[in-house]
Amino acid sequence: MRAAYASAIKPDDPLAALTVGERPEPVLPTDDWVSVEVRASALNHHDLWSLRGVGLRAEQLPMILGCDAAGIDPDGNEVVVHAVIDDPTDQRGYSLLSERHQGALADRVAVPRGNLVVKPAGFSFAEAACLPTAWLTAWRMLTTRGRVADGESVLVQGAGGGVATAAVALGVAMGKRVYATSRSAAKRERVSELGATAVAPGVRLPERVDVVIETVGEATFDHSMKSAAPGARIVVAGCTSGPTPPVDLRRVFWLQLEILGSTMGSANELQSLLAFLTSSGLRPVIDSAHGFTEAEQAFARLASGEAFGKVVIDHTR
Ligand SMILES: NC(=O)c1ccc[n+]([C@@H]2O[C@H](COP(=O)([O-])OP(=O)(O)OC[C@H]3O[C@@H](n4cnc5c(N)ncnc54)[C@H](OP(=O)(O)O)[C@@H]3O)[C@@H](O)[C@H]2O)c1
Repeated sequence: MRAAYASAIKPDDPLAALTVGERPEPVLPTDDWVSVEVRASALNHHDLWSLRGVGLRAEQLPMILGCDAAGIDPDGNEVVVHAVIDDPTDQRGYSLLSERHQGALADRVAVPRGNLVVKPAGFSFAEAACLPTAWLTAWRMLTTRGRVADGESVLVQGAGGGVATAAVALGVAMGKRVYATSRSAAKRERVSELGATAVAPGVRLPERVDVVIETVGEATFDHSMKSAAPGARIVVAGCTSGPTPPVDLRRVFWLQLEILGSTMGSANELQSLLAFLTSSGLRPVIDSAHGFTEAEQAFARLASGEAFGKVVIDHTR
């Protein structure tokens, strides 16, 4: 079957570690697993980290990339694949598709049957494929971890990314006042169109916010701390620009801030995200959709840092 996979580890040139070619059909480890016919998948920064060797070791290669898929299950149902696979041998208690088990950027992907969530009819496969990683992560950051409440405000850092555009769009749809930073003037304009107040990185906001959505790390964390209102939740799910920001601990206790880690979300949270999107009419922000044969261009688009929203792969072409 066709697959986009890591064939090498290249810390400084991740795209050179990507191969688009043939891989064997999925193996089902137990009777509880099924093979899903993938109709659309979406790329995540996670795929670039894997190609760089973060979370993936040379002895695990070749590894099919991709956490996100929507497709058809063996009974003919349209499904979204929840990418978090229970794994008691992993210190987190789970692994993500493409870490220990072959990923979703292929004609077919094997997953436990319990990881399938019904795709609502109103979603295209491309829209549904955006949800299991970036949108689920943003949803959990805002709700379960950030506990964003009525009348509260949200700051999203690095607003062009997959998680960040999801957080902006979800925060606005939830009726929150949303501020978002981006290095790019063009992306700031796109953020404004989503209903947020866009500012350049580091700029003082008109108010201190109750929830901060952090996936950028070193480059923005000081601004996140300075923008936080007393009692704010600073929710961290990534550190694209580096893992060791300066932290003024005095702010943490003076203002009784909470700095919270967050990763992905549960199948129940994916269901509640789908329910929210269905009732609100909100749909994922898609930067671009590429045919499977253009998977390398899709990766180049993600790696360029110029994307606004999700980079999607349409497996039907
Ligand atoms: N823990 C989890 O479960 C989880 C889930 C998903 C993602 N993540 C992590 O979250 C991060 C974002 O993931 P993604 O898939 O949304 O990535 P992405 O689509 O590639 O977006 C990355 C965004 O980060 C911003 N950025 C990158 N470098 C920056 C810098 N030096 N200074 C300021 N902003 C910078 C950019 O924003 P602008 O161009 O707008 O400035 C860019 O749009 C990654 O590190 C990823 O591994 C974690």
